[in-house]
Amino acid sequence: MKKYKNLLVEKEGHLATLTIDRPNKLNALNRETIKELHDAFVALNDDEEIKTIILTGSGDKAFVAGADISEFADFSPKEGSNLAAKGQKLLFDFVENLATPVIAAINGFALGGGLELAMACHFRVASTKAKMGLPEVSLGVIPGYGGTQRLPQLIGKGRAMELIMTANMIDAQKAVAYGLINHMVPAEDLLPFCHSLGDRISKNSPVAIGYAIKAINAGFKNNTDGYATEIDAFGTCFGTEDFKEGTTAFLDKRKAEFPGA
Ligand code: COA
Repeated sequence: MKKYKNLLVEKEGHLATLTIDRPNKLNALNRETIKELHDAFVALNDDEEIKTIILTGSGDKAFVAGADISEFADFSPKEGSNLAAKGQKLLFDFVENLATPVIAAINGFALGGGLELAMACHFRVASTKAKMGLPEVSLGVIPGYGGTQRLPQLIGKGRAMELIMTANMIDAQKAVAYGLINHMVPAEDLLPFCHSLGDRISKNSPVAIGYAIKAINAGFKNNTDGYATEIDAFGTCFGTEDFKEGTTAFLDKRKAEFPGA
C-alpha cells in the first residue's frame, strides 16, 4: 500500500484501487489532492502489472463532494479560469485519455467536481446509496472541470440542462436509467463488483484496450470548443456578485440569496 497525504493506493494482482482520503471534508478536491491524483495515475499507468484502476472515496458518505470551495471562494475571474484549465489538463482530461482503464466506484455523494471526476473515468458503477449532481449554479458558478461537456455526452442534452439548471441530485436508480452509471449494486458489493469487472478486463490485451479508449474518445473530440467556452464562462463567474454570495453562503453554512430569486 502506498500512502499520499490525501490518497491511498492498494495493488492486488492486476488491479489497483485508488482511494481519495479526506473523509472529514467529504473527499473534496483541493489543489494538493488533484496533484496527488495526477501523480498516482501516472505511476499506475507506467506500472506494467496494473491492468485496471478503480477510483473511489474513503468513508461511507462520499465519493467526492466537489472541488474544495474554501480554496477558490476569493478567486478573481483570471484565477477562476486558470483553476479550470489547470485542473482539466492535470486530472480530468488526463484520466479520460489514460491508456489503462479507470472505473469510478461511486460510494456516496458525487457532486460538482466529484461527478466531473467520475464522468472523466472510462465508466462508472455506483452503490445504491450514491447521490449525483452538478450543484455549481447554486454557488453562482458553472461546472468547470468538463461537466458541461461530459454530462450531455453521457445522458443527453435535455437531461443535462435540467440537472445543471436545477442543481438537483439524482439517486443511483435514476442514474442507471439515464446511462450516467452502468451498474448499481449494494454498498458492500461495490468494490468486489468492480474487482470482478477489472479481472475480466485484465484478461484482454492492454495494448488493444489502450487503442480502443483512444478511438472511442476521438469520436467525442468535435466539441473541443465547448471545453474552452466552459473555462472562459467559469472564470467570468468569479467576477460576479452571485458567486461571492453563493460561496460565502456555503462557507457560512446558510442558504444563498441571489437577487431576484
Ligand atoms: N468543499 C469544501 N468543503 C466541503 C465540500 C466542498 N465541496 N463539501 C463538503 N465540505 C465539508 C463541509 O464544509 C464540512 O466541513 P466542516 O465539518 O469543517 O464544516 C464537511 O465537509 C462535512 O460536510 P457537511 O456539509 O457538514 O455534510 P452534510 O452531510 O451536512 O452535507 C453535502 C453533505 C454533500 C450535501 C454538503 O456537504 C454539500 O452541499 N457540499 C457541497 C457540494 C457542492 O456544492 N459541490 C460543488 C462544489 S463546486
